[in-house]
Amino acid sequence: AVAGAAMLVPAGRLSAVFADDEGTASTPFTRALPIPPVLRPVSSTADHDLYDMTLAPTTASILPGLQTPLLTFNGSFPGPTIRARRGRASKVRVTNRMTTPSSVHLHGADVAPSSDGHPVDLIQPGESKIYHYPNRQPAATLWYHDHAHHIEAEQVYRGLAGLYLIGDAESDALGLPGGQYDIPLFIRDAAFDEQGRLLFTLDDFASRRVVLVNGAHQPFVQVRRRKYRLRLVNAANSRPIRLVLSDGGEFVRIASDGGLLEHPVRGTSIELWPAERAEVVVDFTNHATGSTLYLENVFNGPETPNRQLLQFQVGEPVPDPSRVPDTLRTHPDLGEPILTRTINMGRDATNTFYAINGLPYDPDRIDFRCKRGSTELWVVNNTDGQYNFPHSMHVHLVQFRVLDRNGVPVGPEEAYPKDTVRIPAGQTVRMLVRFESPFTGVYPYHCHFLDHSSAHMMAQLEVVP
Ligand code: C2O
Ligand code: CU
Repeated sequence: AVAGAAMLVPAGRLSAVFADDEGTASTPFTRALPIPPVLRPVSSTADHDLYDMTLAPTTASILPGLQTPLLTFNGSFPGPTIRARRGRASKVRVTNRMTTPSSVHLHGADVAPSSDGHPVDLIQPGESKIYHYPNRQPAATLWYHDHAHHIEAEQVYRGLAGLYLIGDAESDALGLPGGQYDIPLFIRDAAFDEQGRLLFTLDDFASRRVVLVNGAHQPFVQVRRRKYRLRLVNAANSRPIRLVLSDGGEFVRIASDGGLLEHPVRGTSIELWPAERAEVVVDFTNHATGSTLYLENVFNGPETPNRQLLQFQVGEPVPDPSRVPDTLRTHPDLGEPILTRTINMGRDATNTFYAINGLPYDPDRIDFRCKRGSTELWVVNNTDGQYNFPHSMHVHLVQFRVLDRNGVPVGPEEAYPKDTVRIPAGQTVRMLVRFESPFTGVYPYHCHFLDHSSAHMMAQLEVVP
């Protein structure tokens, strides 16, 4: 639970916070779920596709009758979706037409340091940069977002994030629901003032009570009576969510942060903390035509936002050739660790900032060096038990294996492939990190509560040959 963090926000400071549970200004479930546009390449060669993205301020109608100023990729909120294929590289030319610098990170990707979106590798206003994404990794739901030093929390909050989906022949061959039956749900929260402007105060997540799905508040989506694949992304800066279906129905979880699980995992709730992803299959076959059900967030934080996030309107049956095989993929063996590292996530000794091992982020400091090709055991402690602050651990470049939390083995849905793991207050997570990428160089690791990473909770490692 995240209780306690709300104490950071003096009561009543943001009196204009928009909406909560029933008190919303919009009529719920009257707006169709937007699907972010799929970006087309501007050119293609034998081995790569080139995409153009422009960072610019824009406005959009999120709340009825109001215009919300945003920062966007190509004017889209969330940003356009890039659909890449394993084995075929992408180049993304990003031009910054904002008044602030940016750096674009492809979260979960195996890329060279020069294309990783390092916090001080900035695209200044008026400048462009081409990012190279080799797409050598298996099919996965990745996402891109701003990562500019100290301001990523605000810039992501204002809209600088979108989806990047890698597909491959191996996952296509499984026969999972695809095409129009494969729907991304990019979930985040926000606080609005009466004019519809986003309110941002660092660490004031408790005021962000409006939860948006694909940039819309309480939209609906029409579904047919068949199986669907839903790609769930928690794109909130600081809000954990736990998703359920209002009828108690089942999610068949097929993929985690970095791609397919070995076997489907059945359950009735999906907990995702910021930056975590899950792909699930939901079967609407046994719902009556004309019925409705809801995707709900039942995470019990101190400030419970609107519980119903999305309405499913069930239509006619259609033939459904899709299936969910019992075996999805074989995971690599990450090997035996050559060393153990202890990493403490928590306030510094004087309780003035968020720190990793007691230190604030310094982009000029290498916190430790890791040998390419080796495996390490990381013991990550949340040392903020006394403050009840939740944290997480995100490592660039790699997909790691989570072993256990407080000594209790995690389930297969949370073990591998992971790039972000939740670490509740006072708890300890152990994980195996293998540096199997061919790339060497400097990569950040940090808490993915972006309000924390923007407030120093970041460090960096160097992969050395
Ligand atoms: Cu999604 Cu370094 O972050
Ligand atoms: Cu944190």
